[in-house]
Amino acid sequence: MTHKLALIGFGVVGQGLAKILLEKKESLKSNEGFEASIVAISDVQKGSLYHSKGLNIEKALQAIEDSGHLDSYSDEPGLIRGWDSLQTIKDCNADTIVEVSYTNVKTGQPAILHCEVAFNNGKNVVMTNKGPVALAYQKLSQLAKSNQVQWGFEGTVMSGTPTLRLPDVGLKGNKISEIRGILNGTTNYILTQMESEQISYESALKEAQNLGYAEADPSSDVEGLDARYKAVILANHLMGGELKVEEVECAGITSISSEMIEEAKKEGKRWKLLANVREEAGLILAKVGPEKLSITDPLAGVSGATNAVTFECDLLGPVTIMGAGAGQTETACSLLIDLIHMSKAQ
Ligand code: HSE
Repeated sequence: MTHKLALIGFGVVGQGLAKILLEKKESLKSNEGFEASIVAISDVQKGSLYHSKGLNIEKALQAIEDSGHLDSYSDEPGLIRGWDSLQTIKDCNADTIVEVSYTNVKTGQPAILHCEVAFNNGKNVVMTNKGPVALAYQKLSQLAKSNQVQWGFEGTVMSGTPTLRLPDVGLKGNKISEIRGILNGTTNYILTQMESEQISYESALKEAQNLGYAEADPSSDVEGLDARYKAVILANHLMGGELKVEEVECAGITSISSEMIEEAKKEGKRWKLLANVREEAGLILAKVGPEKLSITDPLAGVSGATNAVTFECDLLGPVTIMGAGAGQTETACSLLIDLIHMSKAQ
Protein backbone atom coordinates (compact mmCIF):
# COMPACT_ATOMS: atom_id res chain seq x y z
CA MET A 1 0.00 0.00 0.00
CA THR A 2 1.28 3.47 -0.84
CA HIS A 3 0.78 5.82 2.10
CA LYS A 4 -0.74 9.14 1.21
CA LEU A 5 0.75 12.02 3.20
CA ALA A 6 -0.33 15.63 3.68
CA LEU A 7 2.39 18.00 4.86
CA ILE A 8 1.01 20.72 7.10
CA GLY A 9 3.95 23.09 6.99
CA PHE A 10 6.72 23.11 4.41
CA GLY A 11 9.58 24.68 6.33
CA VAL A 12 12.92 23.14 7.22
CA VAL A 13 11.54 19.86 8.61
CA GLY A 14 8.80 19.36 6.01
CA GLN A 15 11.26 19.93 3.16
CA GLY A 16 13.71 17.63 4.95
CA LEU A 17 11.18 14.80 4.90
CA ALA A 18 10.35 15.45 1.23
CA LYS A 19 14.07 15.20 0.36
CA ILE A 20 14.50 11.94 2.30
CA LEU A 21 11.45 10.39 0.62
CA LEU A 22 12.88 11.32 -2.78
CA GLU A 23 16.42 10.17 -2.08
CA LYS A 24 15.49 6.93 -0.32
CA LYS A 25 12.47 6.00 -2.41
CA GLU A 26 13.97 2.78 -3.77
CA SER A 27 15.69 1.54 -0.60
CA LEU A 28 12.59 2.26 1.53
CA LYS A 29 10.54 0.21 -0.88
CA SER A 30 12.94 -2.73 -1.11
CA ASN A 31 14.16 -2.80 2.54
CA GLU A 32 11.07 -1.73 4.44
CA GLY A 33 8.26 -2.31 1.98
CA PHE A 34 7.44 1.35 2.58
CA GLU A 35 6.03 3.55 -0.17
CA ALA A 36 4.65 7.06 0.28
CA SER A 37 3.20 9.74 -1.90
CA ILE A 38 2.75 13.36 -0.82
CA VAL A 39 -0.73 14.40 -1.94
CA ALA A 40 -0.94 17.77 -0.20
CA ILE A 41 1.25 20.55 1.13
CA SER A 42 -0.23 23.45 3.06
CA ASP A 43 2.01 26.16 4.41
CA VAL A 44 0.78 29.54 5.66
CA GLN A 45 3.72 31.34 4.08
CA LYS A 46 4.59 29.24 1.05
CA GLY A 47 1.11 28.42 -0.26
CA SER A 48 -0.71 25.15 -0.75
CA LEU A 49 -1.07 22.38 -3.33
CA TYR A 50 -3.28 19.31 -3.43
CA HIS A 51 -3.47 16.54 -5.97
CA SER A 52 -5.40 13.40 -5.04
CA LYS A 53 -3.03 11.30 -7.18
CA GLY A 54 0.13 12.76 -5.62
CA LEU A 55 2.29 15.83 -6.13
CA ASN A 56 5.62 15.94 -7.91
CA ILE A 57 7.95 16.49 -4.95
CA GLU A 58 10.96 17.42 -7.03
CA LYS A 59 8.88 20.19 -8.59
CA ALA A 60 7.64 21.38 -5.19
CA LEU A 61 11.18 21.55 -3.74
CA GLN A 62 12.38 23.28 -6.90
CA ALA A 63 9.58 25.85 -6.65
CA ILE A 64 10.67 26.70 -3.09
CA GLU A 65 14.29 26.94 -4.16
CA ASP A 66 13.45 29.19 -7.12
CA SER A 67 10.88 31.50 -5.58
CA GLY A 68 10.39 30.60 -1.91
CA HIS A 69 6.73 29.89 -2.76
CA LEU A 70 4.64 27.03 -4.13
CA ASP A 71 2.94 29.39 -6.63
CA SER A 72 5.73 28.65 -9.10
CA TYR A 73 4.82 24.91 -9.14
CA SER A 74 3.46 24.58 -12.66
CA ASP A 75 -0.20 23.76 -13.21
CA GLU A 76 -1.33 20.25 -14.03
CA PRO A 77 -4.82 18.74 -14.50
CA GLY A 78 -6.45 18.00 -11.17
CA LEU A 79 -4.19 20.32 -9.14
CA ILE A 80 -5.96 22.35 -6.43
CA ARG A 81 -4.36 25.44 -4.88
CA GLY A 82 -5.34 27.65 -1.98
CA TRP A 83 -6.64 25.23 0.63
CA ASP A 84 -5.80 26.23 4.18
CA SER A 85 -4.43 23.75 6.69
CA LEU A 86 -7.80 22.74 8.15
CA GLN A 87 -9.45 22.20 4.78
CA THR A 88 -6.42 20.21 3.66
CA ILE A 89 -6.56 17.98 6.75
CA LYS A 90 -10.32 17.44 6.42
CA ASP A 91 -10.81 17.14 2.69
CA CYS A 92 -7.65 15.66 1.20
CA ASN A 93 -7.37 11.92 0.67
CA ALA A 94 -4.23 11.47 2.82
CA ASP A 95 -4.23 8.70 5.40
CA THR A 96 -1.54 10.48 7.46
CA ILE A 97 -1.00 14.12 8.34
CA VAL A 98 2.60 15.23 8.77
CA GLU A 99 2.21 18.08 11.26
CA VAL A 100 5.23 20.37 10.92
CA SER A 101 3.49 23.75 11.01
CA TYR A 102 4.81 26.98 12.53
CA THR A 103 3.43 26.47 16.01
CA ASN A 104 3.51 28.64 19.10
CA VAL A 105 5.41 26.52 21.57
CA LYS A 106 3.69 28.17 24.56
CA THR A 107 0.14 27.38 23.39
CA GLY A 108 0.86 24.42 21.12
CA GLN A 109 -1.40 26.02 18.50
CA PRO A 110 -2.28 25.55 15.70
CA ALA A 111 -0.70 22.07 15.96
CA ILE A 112 -3.12 20.90 18.70
CA LEU A 113 -6.08 21.88 16.52
CA HIS A 114 -4.49 20.15 13.52
CA CYS A 115 -4.19 16.91 15.53
CA GLU A 116 -7.80 17.14 16.75
CA VAL A 117 -9.17 17.69 13.26
CA ALA A 118 -7.00 14.91 11.82
CA PHE A 119 -8.00 12.37 14.49
CA ASN A 120 -11.69 13.28 14.23
CA ASN A 121 -11.43 12.72 10.48
CA GLY A 122 -9.83 9.30 10.87
CA LYS A 123 -6.30 10.36 9.91
CA ASN A 124 -3.01 9.39 11.55
CA VAL A 125 -0.60 12.14 12.60
CA VAL A 126 3.18 12.22 12.77
CA MET A 127 4.71 15.36 14.20
CA THR A 128 7.81 17.07 15.59
CA ASN A 129 6.16 20.01 17.36
CA LYS A 130 6.68 19.54 21.12
CA GLY A 131 3.86 21.80 22.31
CA PRO A 132 0.90 19.48 21.65
CA VAL A 133 2.61 16.48 23.24
CA ALA A 134 3.82 18.36 26.32
CA LEU A 135 0.60 20.33 26.80
CA ALA A 136 -2.18 18.00 25.66
CA TYR A 137 -0.84 14.43 25.77
CA GLN A 138 -3.77 12.81 27.62
CA LYS A 139 -6.45 14.49 25.57
CA LEU A 140 -4.81 13.86 22.19
CA SER A 141 -3.77 10.27 22.89
CA GLN A 142 -7.31 9.44 23.97
CA LEU A 143 -8.73 11.13 20.89
CA ALA A 144 -6.38 9.17 18.62
CA LYS A 145 -7.33 5.95 20.39
CA SER A 146 -11.06 6.56 20.21
CA ASN A 147 -10.78 7.28 16.49
CA GLN A 148 -8.58 4.19 15.99
CA VAL A 149 -5.77 6.15 14.39
CA GLN A 150 -2.07 6.36 15.19
CA TRP A 151 -0.07 9.26 16.60
CA GLY A 152 3.71 9.41 16.24
CA PHE A 153 5.90 12.11 17.82
CA GLU A 154 9.37 10.54 18.09
CA GLY A 155 10.98 13.78 16.94
CA THR A 156 9.75 15.81 19.90
CA VAL A 157 12.60 14.44 22.06
CA MET A 158 16.14 14.02 20.63
CA SER A 159 14.96 14.42 17.00
CA GLY A 160 15.32 11.09 15.16
CA THR A 161 17.43 9.42 17.89
CA PRO A 162 14.91 6.75 18.88
CA THR A 163 14.39 7.78 22.50
CA LEU A 164 10.63 7.47 22.76
CA ARG A 165 10.54 4.17 20.90
CA LEU A 166 13.54 2.60 22.65
CA PRO A 167 11.71 1.27 25.75
CA ASP A 168 9.01 -0.40 23.70
CA VAL A 169 11.31 -1.77 21.03
CA GLY A 170 14.51 -2.54 22.93
CA LEU A 171 13.81 -2.60 26.69
CA LYS A 172 10.78 -4.87 26.78
CA GLY A 173 10.22 -6.61 30.13
CA ASN A 174 12.16 -3.95 32.06
CA LYS A 175 10.64 -1.52 34.51
CA ILE A 176 12.11 1.95 34.16
CA SER A 177 12.47 3.71 37.52
CA GLU A 178 14.29 6.83 36.38
CA ILE A 179 15.21 8.70 33.19
CA ARG A 180 18.03 11.25 33.21
CA GLY A 181 18.93 13.15 30.13
CA ILE A 182 20.65 15.96 28.32
CA LEU A 183 17.73 17.01 26.19
CA ASN A 184 18.76 20.43 24.95
CA GLY A 185 21.56 20.79 22.42
CA THR A 186 21.96 24.56 22.71
CA THR A 187 22.75 24.52 26.44
CA ASN A 188 25.01 21.48 26.13
CA TYR A 189 26.88 23.22 23.32
CA ILE A 190 27.27 26.37 25.43
CA LEU A 191 28.56 24.46 28.48
CA THR A 192 30.94 22.42 26.31
CA GLN A 193 32.38 25.48 24.58
CA MET A 194 32.72 27.43 27.83
CA GLU A 195 34.84 24.60 29.21
CA SER A 196 36.83 23.42 26.19
CA GLU A 197 37.37 26.76 24.41
CA GLN A 198 37.20 28.92 27.53
CA ILE A 199 34.85 31.34 25.80
CA SER A 200 32.15 33.42 27.48
CA TYR A 201 28.54 32.34 27.86
CA GLU A 202 27.48 35.11 25.43
CA SER A 203 29.93 34.05 22.69
CA ALA A 204 28.97 30.40 23.08
CA LEU A 205 25.25 31.27 22.83
CA LYS A 206 25.94 33.30 19.69
CA GLU A 207 27.76 30.32 18.16
CA ALA A 208 24.85 28.00 19.03
CA GLN A 209 22.44 30.42 17.36
CA ASN A 210 24.62 30.68 14.24
CA LEU A 211 24.76 26.90 14.03
CA GLY A 212 20.96 26.76 14.13
CA TYR A 213 20.62 24.80 17.40
CA ALA A 214 18.77 27.45 19.39
CA GLU A 215 15.02 28.05 19.35
CA ALA A 216 13.76 31.29 17.72
CA ASP A 217 13.66 32.69 21.26
CA PRO A 218 16.82 31.22 22.86
CA SER A 219 15.56 32.02 26.36
CA SER A 220 13.48 28.84 26.17
CA ASP A 221 16.74 26.90 25.71
CA VAL A 222 18.93 28.63 28.30
CA GLU A 223 16.18 28.84 30.93
CA GLY A 224 15.47 25.13 30.63
CA LEU A 225 11.94 25.46 29.22
CA ASP A 226 12.66 23.39 26.11
CA ALA A 227 14.15 20.60 28.27
CA ARG A 228 11.15 20.87 30.62
CA TYR A 229 8.74 20.16 27.74
CA LYS A 230 10.81 17.14 26.78
CA ALA A 231 10.92 15.92 30.40
CA VAL A 232 7.11 16.11 30.54
CA ILE A 233 6.86 14.09 27.32
CA LEU A 234 9.17 11.39 28.74
CA ALA A 235 7.28 11.36 32.06
CA ASN A 236 3.80 11.10 30.58
CA HIS A 237 4.49 8.93 27.55
CA LEU A 238 7.10 6.53 28.94
CA MET A 239 6.40 6.42 32.66
CA GLY A 240 2.62 6.81 32.79
CA GLY A 241 2.77 10.22 34.51
CA GLU A 242 0.11 12.87 34.37
CA LEU A 243 2.40 15.85 34.74
CA LYS A 244 1.56 19.34 33.63
CA VAL A 245 4.42 21.50 32.36
CA GLU A 246 4.07 24.05 35.17
CA GLU A 247 4.38 21.32 37.82
CA VAL A 248 7.95 20.59 36.75
CA GLU A 249 10.60 22.50 38.69
CA CYS A 250 12.88 24.16 36.18
CA ALA A 251 16.15 26.08 36.15
CA GLY A 252 18.42 26.84 33.21
CA ILE A 253 22.12 27.52 32.79
CA THR A 254 22.17 31.30 33.04
CA SER A 255 23.64 31.11 36.55
CA ILE A 256 26.58 28.90 35.51
CA SER A 257 29.72 31.04 35.30
CA SER A 258 33.12 30.28 33.75
CA GLU A 259 34.51 30.16 37.33
CA MET A 260 32.00 27.47 38.32
CA ILE A 261 32.98 25.43 35.27
CA GLU A 262 36.69 25.73 36.12
CA GLU A 263 36.06 24.81 39.74
CA ALA A 264 34.06 21.72 38.73
CA LYS A 265 36.88 20.68 36.40
CA LYS A 266 39.37 20.72 39.28
CA GLU A 267 37.00 18.44 41.25
CA GLY A 268 36.81 15.96 38.33
CA LYS A 269 33.26 17.08 37.59
CA ARG A 270 31.31 18.78 34.81
CA TRP A 271 28.16 20.92 34.78
CA LYS A 272 25.30 19.63 32.62
CA LEU A 273 21.71 20.75 32.24
CA LEU A 274 19.86 17.62 33.24
CA ALA A 275 16.25 16.56 32.99
CA ASN A 276 15.30 14.00 35.59
CA VAL A 277 12.12 11.93 35.62
CA ARG A 278 11.59 9.38 38.37
CA GLU A 279 9.08 7.36 40.27
CA GLU A 280 8.83 8.12 43.96
CA ALA A 281 6.25 6.49 46.23
CA GLY A 282 4.10 5.66 43.23
CA LEU A 283 4.24 9.19 41.86
CA ILE A 284 5.96 10.31 38.67
CA LEU A 285 8.03 13.43 39.29
CA ALA A 286 10.29 15.49 37.05
CA LYS A 287 12.69 18.39 37.29
CA VAL A 288 15.14 20.24 35.08
CA GLY A 289 18.25 22.03 36.28
CA PRO A 290 22.05 22.22 36.17
CA GLU A 291 23.91 19.41 37.95
CA LYS A 292 27.59 18.78 38.56
CA LEU A 293 28.28 15.25 37.30
CA SER A 294 31.29 13.09 37.97
CA ILE A 295 33.42 12.92 34.84
CA THR A 296 32.87 9.13 34.82
CA ASP A 297 29.09 9.50 34.35
CA PRO A 298 28.29 8.64 30.68
CA LEU A 299 26.22 11.83 30.47
CA ALA A 300 29.26 13.93 31.47
CA GLY A 301 31.01 12.75 28.30
CA VAL A 302 28.27 14.04 26.00
CA SER A 303 29.67 17.12 24.28
CA GLY A 304 28.51 19.79 21.87
CA ALA A 305 24.91 19.80 20.67
CA THR A 306 24.55 16.04 21.14
CA ASN A 307 21.73 14.81 23.38
CA ALA A 308 21.65 11.68 25.55
CA VAL A 309 19.34 9.82 27.87
CA THR A 310 20.00 7.19 30.54
CA PHE A 311 17.15 4.79 31.36
CA GLU A 312 17.48 3.10 34.79
CA CYS A 313 16.07 -0.37 34.15
CA ASP A 314 15.37 -3.05 36.77
CA LEU A 315 16.86 -5.90 34.71
CA LEU A 316 19.47 -4.17 32.59
CA GLY A 317 20.63 -1.39 34.93
CA PRO A 318 21.48 1.91 33.25
CA VAL A 319 21.10 2.02 29.47
CA THR A 320 22.28 5.19 27.75
CA ILE A 321 21.40 6.31 24.23
CA MET A 322 23.20 9.25 22.69
CA GLY A 323 22.65 11.01 19.39
CA ALA A 324 21.40 14.00 17.49
CA GLY A 325 18.85 16.26 19.13
CA ALA A 326 18.21 18.68 16.27
CA GLY A 327 18.92 19.34 12.59
CA GLN A 328 16.91 19.21 9.37
CA THR A 329 17.69 15.65 8.30
CA GLU A 330 17.85 14.32 11.87
CA THR A 331 14.43 15.74 12.75
CA ALA A 332 12.86 14.75 9.43
CA CYS A 333 14.26 11.25 10.04
CA SER A 334 12.04 10.98 13.14
CA LEU A 335 8.98 11.43 10.90
CA LEU A 336 10.21 8.69 8.62
CA ILE A 337 10.77 6.37 11.62
CA ASP A 338 7.22 7.05 12.83
CA LEU A 339 5.80 6.50 9.35
CA ILE A 340 7.60 3.18 8.88
CA HIS A 341 6.54 1.93 12.33
CA MET A 342 2.96 2.95 11.59
CA SER A 343 2.96 1.22 8.22
CA LYS A 344 4.07 -2.03 9.87
CA ALA A 345 1.42 -1.73 12.61
CA GLN A 346 -1.43 -1.32 10.12
N1 HSE B 1 16.58 24.23 20.57
C1 HSE B 1 16.52 22.81 20.69
C2 HSE B 1 17.86 22.33 21.24
C3 HSE B 1 16.21 22.20 19.34
O1 HSE B 1 18.79 23.14 21.33
O2 HSE B 1 17.98 21.17 21.59
C4 HSE B 1 15.65 20.81 19.40
O3 HSE B 1 14.47 20.70 20.14
